[in-house]
Amino acid sequence: MGFWVWFVCVILGWFLFKKKKKIIENKDGIPKGNLGWPFFGETLQFISSGYSSRPVTFMDKRKSLYGNVFKTNILGTPIIVSTDSEVNKVILQNHGNIFTPAYPKSITELLGTYSILRMKGNVQRRLHTIIGAFLRSPQLKAQITKDIQNTVQLRLANWNNNSPLHFQTEAKQITFEVLVKVLMSVGPGKELETLKREFEEFIKALICIPIKLPGTRLYKSLKAREKLLKIVGKIVEERKSRVGEKGAPRDAVDVLLQDHSENQGLPLDFISSHIIELMIPGEETVPTAMTLAVKFLGDCPRALAQLMEENMKLKKEKDGSGEEYTWTDYMSLQFTQNVISETLRMANIVNGVWRKAQKDVKIKDYLIPQGWCVLASFISVHMDEKNYANPHEFDPWRWEENLSATNNHNFTPFGGGQRLCPGVELTRLEISIFLHHLVTTYRWEAEKDEIVHFPTVKMRRKLPITVTTLSS
Ligand code: HEM
Repeated sequence: MGFWVWFVCVILGWFLFKKKKKIIENKDGIPKGNLGWPFFGETLQFISSGYSSRPVTFMDKRKSLYGNVFKTNILGTPIIVSTDSEVNKVILQNHGNIFTPAYPKSITELLGTYSILRMKGNVQRRLHTIIGAFLRSPQLKAQITKDIQNTVQLRLANWNNNSPLHFQTEAKQITFEVLVKVLMSVGPGKELETLKREFEEFIKALICIPIKLPGTRLYKSLKAREKLLKIVGKIVEERKSRVGEKGAPRDAVDVLLQDHSENQGLPLDFISSHIIELMIPGEETVPTAMTLAVKFLGDCPRALAQLMEENMKLKKEKDGSGEEYTWTDYMSLQFTQNVISETLRMANIVNGVWRKAQKDVKIKDYLIPQGWCVLASFISVHMDEKNYANPHEFDPWRWEENLSATNNHNFTPFGGGQRLCPGVELTRLEISIFLHHLVTTYRWEAEKDEIVHFPTVKMRRKLPITVTTLSS
C-alpha cells in the first residue's frame, strides 16, 4: 500500500513538474535554458563549478548553448541568469522599482526587517543617501585615513621576521577594526573583541539550512545577533544623550541619530539593528580583496616590483618632507589603483546580485516574468574575453589603456544604479593604505594555496606567508 501511494505521488509530481515546465517554456520571450531535475534543478552543477578553479564555467557552458541570458533552476528556484552587461545595467538601475532584492531564506532571517539589503523603495533610498554621503564626506576621509594608517602600522609591527602567519586572518583583524571605528567609533579593547566574537558567530549562518531550532546554526547565530543588539543598543543610547553636541558626525551612529529628513528621527532600535546589518557587506569583502591582492601580486613579480617602486617614491617624499599622508596621496597612486581594480575584477567577491521581478518586464527581447528571480552575473562579464583579453590573467596594466574603473558597465564589482555600494571609496582607501605599508615595510613568501569560490570567495588555507623586513 505504502509503495503504491509513494509511486502515485512520484508520477503525479513528475507530471505536474513537466506541465509547469512546459507552460514556463512556452511563454513568449522567456530565455532558453534547462530547468534540470525537479526541485534540485541544476544546483549540483552550479555548486560544483563554484568549488572549481573556474567558477564561471557554469555560466559559460549555458551561455554557449542558450545565449547571453538563459534560464535555469538553482536551490529550488527557477531563475533567469543574465551574463549580458546591458541587461545587468537595466536590472541595477531598476527604474520603476520593478526588481526587489531576493536572498536565500537563511540570509533574510538573519538580516532582520531593518536591513538596507532587504529594504525597497523610499526607505532604502533615504538610508542609501545618508550612509553614502557620510562614507564619502571629506571629514570622514581625513579622520579615517589616520585611523586606518594607525591600525595597519600597529598590526604590521606585530609581525615577526621569518615566522609564518595566515594573511587572511590578519587582514580580517585590520578591516574589522576599521569597520567598527567607522560605524560606531569603538577602538581596540575588550568591547571590540566581544563585538568581533559575536559578529563572527552571527555571520556563520548567512549560508545554512534555515531551521531555527535550539542547537542549529541559525538558532546560535540569532542568539549572537541578540547579544550584538544589546552592545550596540547601549552605544546608541549613550550617544543619543549627547546628540545636542555640535560638530560633524564622527561615525554612522551619529549620522543616523542626526537624521531628521522625515520630520521625526529614526527609532533607536532601528539604528542599532541597522548598524549591525551595515557590518555585513563590509566585514568579509574588504579583507578578501586585500588577501587576493597579496596572492595575485605574489604570483606576478613584475606587478609587485612596479607597485613597490610607486609606493617607495611616495614614502621617500613623505619621509623627506615630514608631512602626514592624506587621502589624496593614497588615492593618487595610479598603479596601485590599477592593481586594486584588477584584483576586484578577478576576485568577483560579489559574483552577482539576485533580484525578483515584481511584474513582467522585457529587456532587449528577453521576457522576465513577474515572480521570477533574476541573477545579474558580474563574474560572467568580468571574465568574458570580449570585454577583457586573457581574462584569467592578472594584468593591472590593462587599466592603463582605455579602461575606466568608474562608469563602465563591464566593471561592476560594487554593483551599480540604485544600490551601488556606498563603501567603494572606503574600500579602495583601505586597500591602498594597506598595500603601501606592506610593500614599503616587508617582502613576503607565500605558501601554495588556492582560491575557493563557494559559498564565498576565500583562500583554502588562509594564505600562509612568511615576511622579512626590507632592511634586513
Ligand atoms: C571589496 C569590498 C566591497 C565589495 C566588493 C562590495 C560590493 C557590494 C555590492 C556588489 C553591492 C550591491 C548589492 C546589491 O545591489 O544588492 C554592495 C552594497 C552595499 N555595500 Fe558594499 N562592497 C564592499 C565593501 C563595502 C564596505 C566597506 C561597506 C561599508 C561599510 C559597504 C556597504 C554596502 C552597503 C550599505 C550596501 C547596500 C546598499 C543599498 O542596498 O542601498 N560595502 N556592496
